[in-house]
Amino acid sequence: MKKVGLIGWRGMVGSVLMQRMVEENDFARIDPVFFTTSQAGQAAPNFGKDAGQLQNAFDLEALKAMDIIITCQGGDYTKEVYPKLMESGWPGYWIDAASTLRMADDAVIILDPVNGKVIDDALNKGIKTYVGGNCTVSLMLMGLGGLFANDLVEWISSSTYQAASGAGARHMRELLSQMGALRDVVAAELADPASAILDIERKVTAAMREESFPTSQFGAPLAGSLIPWIDVALPNGQSKEEWKGMVETNKILGRSQSIPVDGNCVRIGALRCHSQSFTIKLKKDVPLNDIHQMLASHNDWVRVIDNDKSLTVKELTPAAVTGTLKVPVGRLRKMNMGPDFLSAFSVGDQLLWGAAEPLRRMLNILLH
Ligand code: HSE
Repeated sequence: MKKVGLIGWRGMVGSVLMQRMVEENDFARIDPVFFTTSQAGQAAPNFGKDAGQLQNAFDLEALKAMDIIITCQGGDYTKEVYPKLMESGWPGYWIDAASTLRMADDAVIILDPVNGKVIDDALNKGIKTYVGGNCTVSLMLMGLGGLFANDLVEWISSSTYQAASGAGARHMRELLSQMGALRDVVAAELADPASAILDIERKVTAAMREESFPTSQFGAPLAGSLIPWIDVALPNGQSKEEWKGMVETNKILGRSQSIPVDGNCVRIGALRCHSQSFTIKLKKDVPLNDIHQMLASHNDWVRVIDNDKSLTVKELTPAAVTGTLKVPVGRLRKMNMGPDFLSAFSVGDQLLWGAAEPLRRMLNILLH
């Protein structure tokens, strides 16, 4: 049985990964070794299998004893440990949730329902480093994979509606604290049906602008507002999140000729589902029925939602999708710009297909 080292299993993405591995009985197929950056020697968690003691995540010898390492510990850990491990000649496989190594020539971005062939080719070539993609990119490709597989996309412009979880656990707490603070400031008025709505709005807006309003994580109010910037600025005016859209999409697809992807990335007050609105320039006019068919048949998780109001509000929302592996795609229609312009909207759980799921699937590819 392969020895699999698990690092960062206690964090948010790591916890979702553990939950999915338990649900899919992955632990039965491996010999798990749990690493820690602070509690070596304590008892390892038991996810259905005794795993002895926690090992030190910086102990190179302990890491080198692994056949496969899966890390959700974050980019700083990867930067510190990965080069040393590679220099030592370690022959194992490194599966990583952090973005650090994504664009490296000898690393593959993993999303096997979309790029299973790219992954197989890399394994045959002896590539050892497999990295989860950016969440919006992975969710876009899970939703629109059928269009790419049929080589129908000339370019895509996307506007994202990204959940707090993409920024981290503390950000999710801050969003909820902001929501609570806004509600609390008008609790009495809300209980009185005769109170004036514009008075309520004024109080809420004033509370949002108070020095004491909790914004230490996001740096701005998110509840009752939005933040049209995610990650650092690049010299060309894009945010780094926006830059990832094109480079990662094309790397995942293994394309030598890039498909242009660009748009605005926006943080909104959802908890863990990223939504995206797409304008897609098709290479040719394809009937909508054929597009439905291509999208729906691409993978087992995409769901085409008819462009119908009641179905859309029931099924194409973070509230409906959170905690599931479904990737619904809807609002499909041809646009005023012409029959080769397609509008689409997708929703997906940022912690599942956007983070943890491709990692455990890569593990299973290695175990076969
Ligand atoms: N960068 C993404 C976000 C999450 O901030 O929503 C990770 O892919």
